[in-house]
Amino acid sequence: MHCIRHVTEDLIWIGGNDRQHPLFESTHPVPRGMSFNSYLLLDEKTVLFDTVDRAVQTQFFENLEYALGGRKLDYIFVHHMEPDHAATLGDVMLRHPEATIVCNGKILNMIRQFHCTDPKEVHLVNEGDSITTGRHTFTFVNAPMVHWPEVMVSYDSTDKILFSADAFGTFGALNGVLFADEVNFDRDWLDDARRYYTNIVGKYGPQVQALLKKAAGLDIQMICPLHGPVWRKDLGYIVDKYAKWAAYEPEVQGVLIAFASVYGGTETAANILACRLAEMGIPVEMYDVSVTHYSYVLSDAFKYSHIVFASTTYNNGIFVSMENLLHDIAHHALRGRKVALIQNGSWAPASGKLMTEIISGMKGMEILEAPVTLKSTLAPGQDAELEALAKVLAASVKGEEVVEEAPAPQDKPKGFVCKICGFVYESDTLPDDFICPICRRPASDFEPLA
Ligand code: FEO
Repeated sequence: MHCIRHVTEDLIWIGGNDRQHPLFESTHPVPRGMSFNSYLLLDEKTVLFDTVDRAVQTQFFENLEYALGGRKLDYIFVHHMEPDHAATLGDVMLRHPEATIVCNGKILNMIRQFHCTDPKEVHLVNEGDSITTGRHTFTFVNAPMVHWPEVMVSYDSTDKILFSADAFGTFGALNGVLFADEVNFDRDWLDDARRYYTNIVGKYGPQVQALLKKAAGLDIQMICPLHGPVWRKDLGYIVDKYAKWAAYEPEVQGVLIAFASVYGGTETAANILACRLAEMGIPVEMYDVSVTHYSYVLSDAFKYSHIVFASTTYNNGIFVSMENLLHDIAHHALRGRKVALIQNGSWAPASGKLMTEIISGMKGMEILEAPVTLKSTLAPGQDAELEALAKVLAASVKGEEVVEEAPAPQDKPKGFVCKICGFVYESDTLPDDFICPICRRPASDFEPLA
């Protein structure tokens, strides 16, 4: 049974929604499902705009044949060859051998690679070429690396519609809705749109900016992406978001704290830092990167202006979930964030130095302070270091200078710490014959608390 929606009088959404596969591209969780959009134009000529993922092929073919209503298929515009859109292209070519494939040369090469066949009828287009299908005229614009090198978009100058391929897409199934103005996008969809953008095309900000620049020269009244709802109102909202994301500009002046903790010491420090920041009125988001998929953390790394990475040391390295996250953020080319670090290590803390090495290789990242170092857990008095870090972060978020406060003498912790086991003897003086009650070491193995 067909399940279609009209975009305009002669343009029909004929895609499908997948809610069965838990991962998109075998890696990104999509708990709200995923839509694979395809559109059919019923002009003097009929035009199919891309096909769909195998996951929704049954629905798609029902929709296509119903919407065609017995007409022949004249054109298939192929904008992007990733199989979430082109897996079923080969089947369409078999069912409709009369259709002419409209694509650029790179797309044609990929059709050969993926489908091991040469389309019977091909119309190759270059940047700026046009095709008239009757009432409508389409112009083709290349959009390399948004998200693959072959990508192009097309612009219908009659109804002023941009067929934008992956651009302006989002995770999430269309639960009966078609248009972004049928939902509360900012409240219910923006986080998934950001997570989709940052994880799928976040690496290619300059290429997205190039497409936005080309699009700015067009009178666009509607955007039909290959995932997520169609935009017909308030286009400036989503275009502004894309402009920010593509320029790696944060949306929120605030702090993302990403921590990796094994026995809770690092997590406690992260929690205390979050409390101090919140008390100062700073927006804070926190993730335990060992239990939250990196795609969510990456998305918020794009969203926030400041990031704190807190990690224990593990096998002389960064804890594995944090190391994976940092490499993922670096691979997505995030830049221009202010960063602070917390490292933990019971005998040889090394994660701070190693995290610094990864972050230093990224463009425009500024590490605000030397890492706060924990040995197993926070030592008495060390919460003052976290408060000081919170002040540095808060001042940076607010764009203020940090005012150094001389600690009141009575605030300074008094005592001596055993260099062997960390036991603290709280007193102004340490008796010469003192023996550590924990590890039985003499007074000579103690040092004054910092
Ligand atoms: Fe939705 Fe790059 O494919």
